Amino acid sequence: GAFHAKERSMTASPLFAEGETLWSPHVRANPFPLYKRMREEFPVARITDPQLGMHFWLLTRYEDVLSIVRDPRFTQDPTRLPEEVRQRFFGHKLRSLSRHLLTVDPPDHTRMRSLVSKAFTPRRIEELRPRITAICSELLEGLMAHGSGGDFLKLFAFPLPVIVIAELLGIPPEDRDRFREWTQAFFAPPSKDAQEKTREAHQLFFKYLGEIFEQRRQQPRDDLISALIAVQEQGDRLSGEELTSMVFLLLVGGYETTGNLLGNGLLALLQHPDELQRLREDHSLIPSAVEEMLRYCGPFELSILRFAKEELELHGQRIQAHEAVRVNYLAADRDAEQFSEPDRFDVGRTPNKHVGFGHGIHFCLGAPLARLEASIAIELLLERLPEMRLATAPEKLAWRPSAQARGVVSLPLAF
Ligand code: HEM
Repeated sequence: GAFHAKERSMTASPLFAEGETLWSPHVRANPFPLYKRMREEFPVARITDPQLGMHFWLLTRYEDVLSIVRDPRFTQDPTRLPEEVRQRFFGHKLRSLSRHLLTVDPPDHTRMRSLVSKAFTPRRIEELRPRITAICSELLEGLMAHGSGGDFLKLFAFPLPVIVIAELLGIPPEDRDRFREWTQAFFAPPSKDAQEKTREAHQLFFKYLGEIFEQRRQQPRDDLISALIAVQEQGDRLSGEELTSMVFLLLVGGYETTGNLLGNGLLALLQHPDELQRLREDHSLIPSAVEEMLRYCGPFELSILRFAKEELELHGQRIQAHEAVRVNYLAADRDAEQFSEPDRFDVGRTPNKHVGFGHGIHFCLGAPLARLEASIAIELLLERLPEMRLATAPEKLAWRPSAQARGVVSLPLAF
């Protein structure tokens, strides 16, 4: 039945120990015991962001994830919020980069998603297979040249998605490195320091994209930016602001996520030698192994913010109008109500209806691309690195302080 989370927290022991937060290093390293308690005792947990003193409500049960993302009582569109709320949560973001799929509700979302899907087609993605294989191969050689102790993240997992999406969009290779900084600013928690940096990064990015658009308008090429411009010009239904924001989202949305999926997934394999061996012996398991990585150690932990349009109640907890709610995809993917032996890493798991790519109308647009990159990368790693192992003790690995892009700071490998 529905419990009143706040009432219980007064009698039962509190969710967090003194001074502990969702971002404490030991929680980052292993959030799963906390998430289990949340699912069982605090299905609607009040989380305070320690830096800004803002709070949001966090939902961790699988069935709640499915229902919240399709609940019309919530909005993802900041322009529908009172000015004060919008400033507090989004004041550091540049409006011209903020009108994309994740910040609009239907019917705007329906219109934009159908336009973008015309350019970002499964066929266009599948055509990339040979090129992605070549990029992976090249990166692997660079990694192996480092001998013992090469950082898999820096030398392979992060460069891969950047090169792929930059080529797909038609961004010149010499400009790629600048994205890392811009992307990090995008994912930074909205602390006071980060706000200034984020705004600056956004402004540079915006200016940069403006120049690229101008070039492609004059001389269209066979790239995704030209295709999006064509979609815009034919239909006249994607505004300039929406176009810039969409390209921005495509650039930043697949970068940290895909990089961390590869890092977390490889780490999981190395920590489960039997599963690694099983995969080595049967490469047809690679697609299901990728799905299991998305479930067991997915990089997109907390969803983006969703705001209550009106006062409402969830599991007996009152949510005020304009309060923020987030779902926790990683916690939902360990829910024993949905998955048998949820804490087991099983590269052959079926069924596996994980929510690592989200759910509903905002389901990840880049999922086919991320899946393709991950399966090609893993296949090559298995083939070329028969002796790969961690070059450090797993408990020495440091986890990044972000719950938006879950991953380790570095992943040293030996071959
Ligand atoms: C949306 C995860 C890779 C583009 C999402 C959402 C999740 C997600 C969870 C929904 C967010 C929410 O509603 O709270 C991931 C993961 C990835 C990945 C785990 C890699 C392993 C990519 C790539 C791209 C991409 C490679 C594009 C190149 C997008 C876009 C949306 C989205 C455009 C918004 C879709 C919409 O609102 O209609 N992703 N993503 N993602 N993702 Fe990904």
